[in-house]
Amino acid sequence: MQFKLQNKVIIITGGAGTIGKCFVRGVAEKGGIVVVADINFDAAKSLANEMEHEYMGQIEAAYLDITNKESIVTLIADLKHRYGVIDAVVNNAYPRNKNYGIKLESVTYADFCENVNMHLGGYFLVAQQFCLLFKEQGYGNIVNMSSVYGSIAPRFEVYDGTRMTMPVEYAAIKAGIDHLTRYFAQYYKGTGLRINCLSPGGILAGQSNNFLVAYNKYCSSKGMLDANDLLGALIFLLSDDSCFMTGQNLLIDDGYSL
Ligand SMILES: NC(=O)c1ccc[n+]([C@@H]2O[C@H](COP(=O)([O-])OP(=O)(O)OC[C@H]3O[C@@H](n4cnc5c(N)ncnc54)[C@H](O)[C@@H]3O)[C@@H](O)[C@H]2O)c1
Repeated sequence: MQFKLQNKVIIITGGAGTIGKCFVRGVAEKGGIVVVADINFDAAKSLANEMEHEYMGQIEAAYLDITNKESIVTLIADLKHRYGVIDAVVNNAYPRNKNYGIKLESVTYADFCENVNMHLGGYFLVAQQFCLLFKEQGYGNIVNMSSVYGSIAPRFEVYDGTRMTMPVEYAAIKAGIDHLTRYFAQYYKGTGLRINCLSPGGILAGQSNNFLVAYNKYCSSKGMLDANDLLGALIFLLSDDSCFMTGQNLLIDDGYSL
């Protein structure tokens, strides 16, 4: 058991975001070569610059829009040309439109479709395009970021007294990602390609104390986790130590979903 990512070329979509930043550092720490692929290229570039002195030559920034096939194809072609192989992609971007996050009764058909298209559709497109290369290579690894809310019904009570809710699109998207993972795993059986999900509970990002108290009642020890608490599971899924795992979903939530 090694949990090593030495010289593995790993793309992290949405790598400049809350969880992405932590994943970029964690993968680089384990020896991986990380591509911070984000629609916010400036944020990706400044993250790569910030970490350059610590992980010389291991982190680069790239522009990527997961909802645009040309953007994905261009990135894959460029990385293939420069690195020869691509080992893994973490489907971690979080696209949403300007009306995302409102209550069920106010969600329009157009907003519902747009959010599902961007997020679930984008994850599909990334997986579809990388699988073409992975099949050609004879190996490749995909980690799809899902959520406990792909597996359990929302706990609306934890949002009482806050402006937050658990968006209806999110439930549909994450449940869709869980099953898309199984579909791809089954479809590509025997090709050396594998695909799994990582499903976190909520991640600490300045939520109010009242919310955290309500949330933490459902947890086992720490309560709401920090993005760093996901790293062990991510590195396991990306490393050869999980080589016989495909089509699975790891829930990392300190017991919240039980
Ligand atoms: N934060 C949480 O509490 C939490 C909990 C469970 C699961 N997740 C999942 O983890 C993943 C990352 O979440 P986060 O909280 O870090 O999100 P975030 O909003 O902090 O970061 C998302 C990143 O995705 C980028 N992005 C948006 N649209 C894009 C597109 N079309 N193409 C490429 N990049 C794009 C953004 O620029 C941003 O850098 C998501 O799948 C999310 O659903 C998050």
